Amino acid sequence: MTDHHPTAVIILAAGEGTRMKSARPKVLHAIGGRSLLGHAIVAAQGLSPTHLAVVVRHERELVTQHVHDICPEAVVADQDDVKGTGRAAECGLDRLPGDLTGTVLVTYGDVPLLETASLEAMVRAHEESGAAVTVMTSHISDPSGYGRVLRDSAGQVVGIVEQKDADEAQRAITEINSGIYAFDAALLRDALRQVQTDNAQGEKYLTDVVAVAHGQGKRVAAHVLADLWQTEGVNDRVQLAKMGAELNRRTVERHMRAGVTVIDPATTWIDTSVSIGQDSTILPNTQILGATTIGADVTIGPDTTLIDVDIRDGASVIRTHGSLSVIREGASVGPFAYLRPGSDLGAKGKIGTFVETKNSTIGAGAKVPHLSYVGDATIGERSNIGAASVFVNYDGVTKSRTTIGNDCRLGSDNMYVAPVTVGDGAYSGAGTTVRKDVPAGALAMSVAPQRNLLGWVEEHRAGTAAAHAAQAARLREQGENS
Ligand code: UD1
Ligand code: MG
Repeated sequence: MTDHHPTAVIILAAGEGTRMKSARPKVLHAIGGRSLLGHAIVAAQGLSPTHLAVVVRHERELVTQHVHDICPEAVVADQDDVKGTGRAAECGLDRLPGDLTGTVLVTYGDVPLLETASLEAMVRAHEESGAAVTVMTSHISDPSGYGRVLRDSAGQVVGIVEQKDADEAQRAITEINSGIYAFDAALLRDALRQVQTDNAQGEKYLTDVVAVAHGQGKRVAAHVLADLWQTEGVNDRVQLAKMGAELNRRTVERHMRAGVTVIDPATTWIDTSVSIGQDSTILPNTQILGATTIGADVTIGPDTTLIDVDIRDGASVIRTHGSLSVIREGASVGPFAYLRPGSDLGAKGKIGTFVETKNSTIGAGAKVPHLSYVGDATIGERSNIGAASVFVNYDGVTKSRTTIGNDCRLGSDNMYVAPVTVGDGAYSGAGTTVRKDVPAGALAMSVAPQRNLLGWVEEHRAGTAAAHAAQAARLREQGENS
């Protein structure tokens, strides 16, 4: 970790984001399973700053609530009607102790790919150079829209000019202001008091602090960042998707470098907070989302979506949709399974093909192999549930649980009408409707003995193909017997 902990990080997030064309504030849109603002906060938290402030204005209640949810220790500052990044930074600073000293970083809430390591390098360079202001800059071929970095003949940074205020020569400059800065706290406080709004947009520009510092004879440094993605902001949904794809590319690459096999990175989507153990394999068309954790030697996919699922070592999950579930060591799921919240599959257990589970614990080594619904059930260890069984958990008013013991061998097409309990080692016949508890070791059957009404089809379905076939069979049989 760094020796250079900033005194404060101020994240600007008061802008409207009109180009998103959204009822939701821009900074609450997400990529990689985390809001844009969440990414900015995580990057800042990585520096362990003494203070973290987020400046809000547009949809302030929603944004404030989100900040409280994801980072309770952050201070939320409200920007007033004075517009501009300078005013935003000033409002952030005003919410922090008035005697702050040291380094204050300013970042944006809509720049999601910026990494802690880049901020850390800038803080280190800033503090080691003794500059009053360090601006993170980039060289880009099309600088239009950005503020341009002005340097004197000796190469010293003397100011930043916005696109709208720039003359022809200044617009030709390709070194741009990323909008990320490190400031000496006292200089920032003092300079912001002097910054005016006499510019093309009538705003209080944070960029003007650079010229103020230079005018006071203080040193202004530039910290060039070569990785342009890290300082790119999101303005519309096209950029949101583009940044989301790049974040995903980086995330997938990180996992591959750590020992995960990803067969098709282009169709594999992994949220930022997911963890995956060594020698696991991810097959194509797979989304691993939210707080999902995957152990070692696991196989996931193809065509699988997992949201907040805990998957232990050696498990395999094929063509499955699952959320808020646990899949324990060596268990197997799918193909074509649907795990709803609260499903917990024991070690070496099996949830097979066309099986839906919900709020159910399936014991170690137990199997639900085919065509079943398991809702609100506890199934013991090593028990086997026959094909096409339904745990009938809902009577139209209340939900009830079914409990199955250990080592049961239960028949196909069983209905377990909850609440009901099946004891250890019990068996059941095919087609049983289990309405009463089954004692340990019993065989349960509820189906009436089969009756065959001879000649029924020829009598009651005369003229049909079935009747003709029945007649032919009867005549054949009579011929054989005569
Ligand atoms: C700003 C910089 C520009 C830089 C560019 C990089 C200024 C004056 N210009 O321009 O030099 O090249 O960023 O992207 O700083 N915000 C507030 N309150 C406000 C205005 C903005 O919190 O009143 C926040 C926005 O939510 C956003 C950030 O500040 O996160 C940048 O605002 P934006 O309007 O995009 O600034 P630019 O004009 O792009
Ligand atoms: Mg902008």
